Parts: sequence; C-alpha cells; structure tokens
Amino acid sequence: MGDNLMQYQFPDDFWWGSASSAPQTEGESLGGAKSPTVWDHWFALQPGRFFQQVGPQDTSTFYRHWREDIALLKQTGHNSFRTSISWARLIPDGRGDANPQAAAFYNQVIDELLAQGITPFINLFHFDMPMAMQALGGWENRQVVDAYADYAAVCFELFGDRVRHWFTFNEPIVPVEGGYLYDFHYPNVVDFKRAATVAYHTMLAHASAVRHFRKSGQGGEIGIILNLTPSYPRSQHPADLAAANHADLLFNRSFLDPALRGHYPEELIALLKRYGQLPASQPGDDELLSGGIVDLLGINYYQPRRVQCRINQVNPDSPFMPEWLFDHYQMPGRKMNPWRGWEIYERGVYDILTNLRDNYHNPRCYISENGMGVEDELRFLRNGSIEDDYRIDFVREHLIWVHRALAEGSRCLGYHIWTFIDNWSWTNAYKNRYGLVQLDLATQRRTVKKSGRWFADAARNHGFDE
Ligand code: BG6
Repeated sequence: MGDNLMQYQFPDDFWWGSASSAPQTEGESLGGAKSPTVWDHWFALQPGRFFQQVGPQDTSTFYRHWREDIALLKQTGHNSFRTSISWARLIPDGRGDANPQAAAFYNQVIDELLAQGITPFINLFHFDMPMAMQALGGWENRQVVDAYADYAAVCFELFGDRVRHWFTFNEPIVPVEGGYLYDFHYPNVVDFKRAATVAYHTMLAHASAVRHFRKSGQGGEIGIILNLTPSYPRSQHPADLAAANHADLLFNRSFLDPALRGHYPEELIALLKRYGQLPASQPGDDELLSGGIVDLLGINYYQPRRVQCRINQVNPDSPFMPEWLFDHYQMPGRKMNPWRGWEIYERGVYDILTNLRDNYHNPRCYISENGMGVEDELRFLRNGSIEDDYRIDFVREHLIWVHRALAEGSRCLGYHIWTFIDNWSWTNAYKNRYGLVQLDLATQRRTVKKSGRWFADAARNHGFDE
C-alpha cells in the first residue's frame, strides 16, 4: 500500500476486474468451430424474439480478438477477469473427448491472462446449454447432470494446473426462471414443477462438479455465482414480512442454502410440498448436495426486490406460480436507472454481505457482477469516447457500501464489474450497453470509455477518493 491512503482504501490483494461470458463474447459460433447451443437454436427458430433481430453470432469476437482484449484488460487496471468456457465448443456433442482446437483456444487465453498478471476466474456454464444436451431434455434429464459433471472434469484436467478459481454456474436461477417460468429463455416452458426440477438438478450438477474437483486433487478453489436480490417488505406488517420471506426462499435461498449449507431450507421444502411442487429426489442426493458447499461465493447484484403481500385472491384452479405468495411493488421515491428500468439501491450490496456474515458463517465471497446497462448509450459519445459519468457514480457508490461491509468484518475479496466490453446480451442483444470499453459492432473497433479510465485508476490505487 502506498503512503497516500485513499479515502476509500481497499486491501492490497483485493480483486479488481470484470466478468464476461463465452456465449456473449466469443463469436465464431457455428461452422465447425462450435456446435449449437439453445441460443443458436432459438435464434434460428424465432429471430423476432431478439432485440433488432441480432443473434448470438454478432459478438465482439473474442475468439479472434482475445490478445487485443487482454491488452485492454491490462490497460483498464484488471488484476483478475472472469469468463466462461463454452461446453458446446469444448465438447461439441456434449459428451466425450475435448476438441483439441477448442482446448488450444482456452489454453492460449489462460496463458495470456497469466502472462499479463491477470488472474483467470473460469466459469463452466453461463446459460449456454449445448443443443445436443437440450435435445435430451436439458436439466430435466439426469443424464445431462452426469454429462455436465464429466465436462467439468475434463476442464479441471485440461486447465486446472493454471486456473485457481473455478465456478460451476453463473446465476443458475436465470435459466430456471427464463426457460421454465416466465418465457424469456428457450425452451419457453411455463410450469413451476418443471422449473423446480430444473433448479434441483442444476444444484445436483453443481455438487457433482464440486465432487470431481475435490477428487482431482487440483489446487485452488471452486464456487458458484448467484444473483442475489434482497427482498425488502413494503411494511413491517406480518403479511408483508411473510411475502418477503417467501420471495427470499424462492429466489435467493433456493440456491444460496445448498451452496453454503449443503441443504435446502426446511421452510422451502415445506412450502413446495404444500403446493404439490416438490421435485422428485433419489437416494444419495442429500449426501451429494452436502458435499457441494463452496469455497468461494460469487455475488451478482443489480437491483433489490420490493415485496408486499398479495392484494388480490389467486384462482386456486390456475397453475401455481411464485406470484401466489407475494406481489411486487414500486417503492415511492426509489432511485432508478432511467435507461434500463431497474431500481438502483446501492445499500443492497451491503445488506447482502452483512446477511452472509451474520447468517452464513461469513463465507469467502466477492462481488462477481454489478453494473449499469444503458439503452442507446452511443448518444453519450463525445469526441469518439463515451463519457459515462453515471456509470462511474454507480460503481463508486456500490464500492463505498462494499468498503463499509469490509470494515465491519465481511470477507468480500473483490469487485468485478459487468462488463469489460459492450456485449451481446441474450434477447436484449445490444439494447443495453454495460462495458468499460465500447464496441463498434460493424468495425469491431474498441474504445475505452471514461469509466474504463476511472476504473483503471481505482484498481491501481486499490481505492479512490470521493
Ligand atoms: C446478468 C447476466 O444477469 O445480467 C449477464 O449474468 C447479462 O449475462 C447481464 O448480460 C445484463 O443483462 P441485460 O438483460 O440488462 O442485458
């Protein structure tokens, strides 16, 4: 640490970096380089579901620009960087041997990151189910759980000599909500029981990968990345408190408890039983799950959930949905991201960290995603570079709350912004831009935004002044 302490000084070994993912950046999707995922498949079927009909082929093409992008990571102060491996690229059929060309690509990326002094954080699954596996039923089929665990073992074998921070899943609840409850991911099913099965099998897959990792004897640590949305009740009325508790059970603790305690909350099991929605289990599952406690938790935080008790009666003949148990409400006077339509509540990150400290034995954790999406951001171009002071404020304000949580004993080890470079984002494509670096999709030109320069300074100083 230098002599001149910043007002908000973070530890010397704090992780400064960003998160990204293979399906959102690599490109070279098809044509032999990679087999199709659910995204390629869905885009071919229904391009109209994607913003401006821009699909997963239109990326920043990290597959070819990786060296240039790693140089930009360095320039923007990164000491660590998360991306994912594409299962469909590494093992095109979903099962079997690795494709040597794909293994060589990931080896080059990992080696170059290390050569530049940037610690690679590698995630194994970021919403990108290979179509070969979805054709078997995806996470509804336990054979896919086994295939995923084998794929994870291949990754540990190929890259585990250099990768020290592994993650089994990014936001595993999102494919559950998107694909099986609210119709914003393929396969566009709306069915709570199937969603609960997918969620359960995903955690079995997680625990199976953890088991392989520990058996492999590779050094390093393994974790999971969860999007946590603190549930705030509208009032202290018992009905509102119960509603917030239900939202917390369904959307946070359904993954957090197995990841940190090795089992599901009794209250959640009772709730699902009461509504006839408990997924089928098999002998040995509980033991498997209990071995899946993580070494490191990644926390993605974007916005809180504001909850009140249900105002209107539900029709008991309609299929069960989470909204039977609570309603959302808009808190008057809340601060909004005017472009993405999400609430900004910086203190939420502190509430998450102190909840983990007090109720989950203060696990090793870090902020694995936090960021500000801005629609039509190119309108803020000045002399070719985006002057994104709003993003700097967003990051700074969240970091101030992280700093406070650290001072109060949280074991938060770092902060990764979403994201490094403007990327393709599922059905939103390029609607909202999040990067420290702007991308001109047509020319593939990269330009560091003002936030990228701010971030570089904060990372190099391990802190900042107000
Ligand atoms: C996170 C995901 O939840 O949100 C990312 O991990 C995603 O993959 C990001 O890109 C932003 O989402 P959106 O919908 O605002 O583009």
